Amino acid sequence: DWTMAEFRKTKIEEIRAQVGDGKVICGLSGGVDSAVAAVLIHEAIGEQLTCVFVDHGLMRMNEAEQVVTLFRDHYNIPLVHVDAEEMFLAGLAGVTDPEAKRKFIGKAFIDLFEAEAKKIGGADFLAQGTLYPDVIESVSFTGGPSVTIKSHHNVGGLPERMNMALVEPLRELFKDEVRALGRELGLPEVFVGRHPFPGPGLAIRIPGEVTKERCDILRKADAVYLEEIRAAGLYDAIWQAFAVLLPVKTVGVMGDGRTYDSVCGLRAVTSTDGMTADVYPFDASFLTRVATRIVNEVKGINRVVYDYTSKPPGTIEWE
Ligand code: XMP
Repeated sequence: DWTMAEFRKTKIEEIRAQVGDGKVICGLSGGVDSAVAAVLIHEAIGEQLTCVFVDHGLMRMNEAEQVVTLFRDHYNIPLVHVDAEEMFLAGLAGVTDPEAKRKFIGKAFIDLFEAEAKKIGGADFLAQGTLYPDVIESVSFTGGPSVTIKSHHNVGGLPERMNMALVEPLRELFKDEVRALGRELGLPEVFVGRHPFPGPGLAIRIPGEVTKERCDILRKADAVYLEEIRAAGLYDAIWQAFAVLLPVKTVGVMGDGRTYDSVCGLRAVTSTDGMTADVYPFDASFLTRVATRIVNEVKGINRVVYDYTSKPPGTIEWE
């Protein structure tokens, strides 16, 4: 009879046995997985762990602050906060290919990490919140040959370069189990229940070129959408919901003027592990309300569409 309390105990012993008196560096992405991994590892080895939060400026509204607050105030776990927005936006300038975005972001993370690891005199281990589906999907894709669909930035790279071993205590778990472990570790419910958020952040929700201006527009639209989802009591029934900002302008009319602005896409899916997903069937009245609010409140968007594609054949993210 397997419980999370036992899993916690076993993993803590395993982490201690693996790490010995070595130093571990852990990257926080702002998501549930890396947060749960970090809290668990901190419980196991305390000050031997250094947590680094690389803020790439591609987070959603207020998300960066929430992570910093959770670690510093709620857990009192020391956290290095690297503000790298300018560096990431500069590197993404002119980049439109999805894999090129992912590769740049993955490499920039690794470089920043390497720099932080050097500051603490080197680390022996890199901790990651890799889950079972990440392990599977980065190898192959269900129903097809061994093809990389997307390069997940949280798998590989740094360890070889820096001669570090990996600490991945969540490798056998699915998302719902990670959430249960997070509750067991006392993470606040709002954090544990959070929808997954991809490492490359808003960069892969802005097809075409990523700019600060487009990130700001998307953050506003996404915040309106999620606010309505929460108000309707639907947040927990949905695996993941987010807005995307398309590189397409269309004509509209507002007041007595013509508008020529961007299109915003809305996505919401149900899933158990992210490997397959179904479209969340909102009421038409809900979608109409969200569309009206976004067009009225977010400058730069004059049209909203809903994505009715399940996975497969679509992926959850648009890039
Ligand atoms: P896709 O778009 O491949 O996404 O259907 C499946 C799940 O994985 C998340 N995702 C990522 N998570 N780094 C991450 O940590 C990534 O590079 C990445 N790409 C996609 C996505 O948000 C969804 O939950």
